[in-house]
Amino acid sequence: MRFLVTGGAGFIGCNFVRHMLKEHPGDRIVVLDKLTYAGRLENLEPIMDRITFVKGDICDKDVVKNAMDGCDAVINFAAESHVDRSITSPEDFVTTDVIGVFTLLEEARRRDVKRFVQISTDEVYGSTVSGSFSEKDILDPSSPYSASKAGGELLARSYVRTYGLDVIVTRSSNNYGPFQYPEKLIPVLVVKALRDQPLPIYGKGMNVRDWLHVEDNCRAIDLVLQKAKAGDIVNIGSGNEVPNIEVAKLILRHMKKPESLITYVQDRPGHDFRYSLEWERLKALGWTPKVRFEEGLKSTVDWYLANRAWWEPLL
Ligand SMILES: NC(=O)c1ccc[n+]([C@@H]2O[C@H](COP(=O)([O-])OP(=O)(O)OC[C@H]3O[C@@H](n4cnc5c(N)ncnc54)[C@H](O)[C@@H]3O)[C@@H](O)[C@H]2O)c1
Repeated sequence: MRFLVTGGAGFIGCNFVRHMLKEHPGDRIVVLDKLTYAGRLENLEPIMDRITFVKGDICDKDVVKNAMDGCDAVINFAAESHVDRSITSPEDFVTTDVIGVFTLLEEARRRDVKRFVQISTDEVYGSTVSGSFSEKDILDPSSPYSASKAGGELLARSYVRTYGLDVIVTRSSNNYGPFQYPEKLIPVLVVKALRDQPLPIYGKGMNVRDWLHVEDNCRAIDLVLQKAKAGDIVNIGSGNEVPNIEVAKLILRHMKKPESLITYVQDRPGHDFRYSLEWERLKALGWTPKVRFEEGLKSTVDWYLANRAWWEPLL
């Protein structure tokens, strides 16, 4: 099989490429990535000779046409992904997360690729105080980021019914692990703590996220790629619901830093209170999360401590 992995130089994408090379060494992987601020060639450095890398934009028809040439399946990770940036500059989000998906879908249907996996997010459901979202729940996104992701996945799903394209949508909860850009909560907290700087926590720190280790997500996406049915939507949660303030305290404890570093800052506009997923469909395919949050968090903190040369130039 030959796969086109878009956004493969970003956080989840580069972990997925590594996962696929390890688990399916006979398969060929083409990575298409624009190398925005979030995409870095260094993330692929040790495996560069085992993949084909194309620098380019998923909104560019010619680039997409060439990159998809000979590919059996497409896994689309490419996106603008940071909620705070979507509040200040929403246009890039609509462009990449909707028009980019459209450009990929058009080429995929022209070539009749065997499978198209659109990587979406639990944020498309919006916030909930209690209970967990199933794949049948309505979409109620709050930010320009989640609304653009919802637009991209709805378009992708329309290609199943309209053109018979084999599309699958995954909606995962918040990922954490190595190679995450230091603007997302966990790396921000680790980097600040290491420098004895205040750890910024939105509002009262009670917003809850269900933390999914990136390796568990990659295993789930691989499984979905092999086993899900055309048109399936698949939630990927982990059962690790933790308020942000607890995440900060766990990091400080592991790094032996004082809790007095925690500083509450003005809340993000439209900040979703809690995301929560059920993942019965994925369970039925044979997946369960393997990484317990406290262990995954410790190994992630240790990765950032051991890889200062990776994140320091980004600050
Ligand atoms: N990180 C999470 O917690 C999380 C949770 C659920 C879903 N997701 C989704 O998973 C996917 C990957 O997220 P991530 O955290 O790895 O994001 P990221 O921001 O770390 O990486 C995004 C990658 O896409 C590339 N890219 C951006 N615009 C592009 C364009 N127009 N053309 C080609 N490449 C482009 C960037 O260069 C980068 O390599 C995204 O679709 C995101 O919406 C992420």
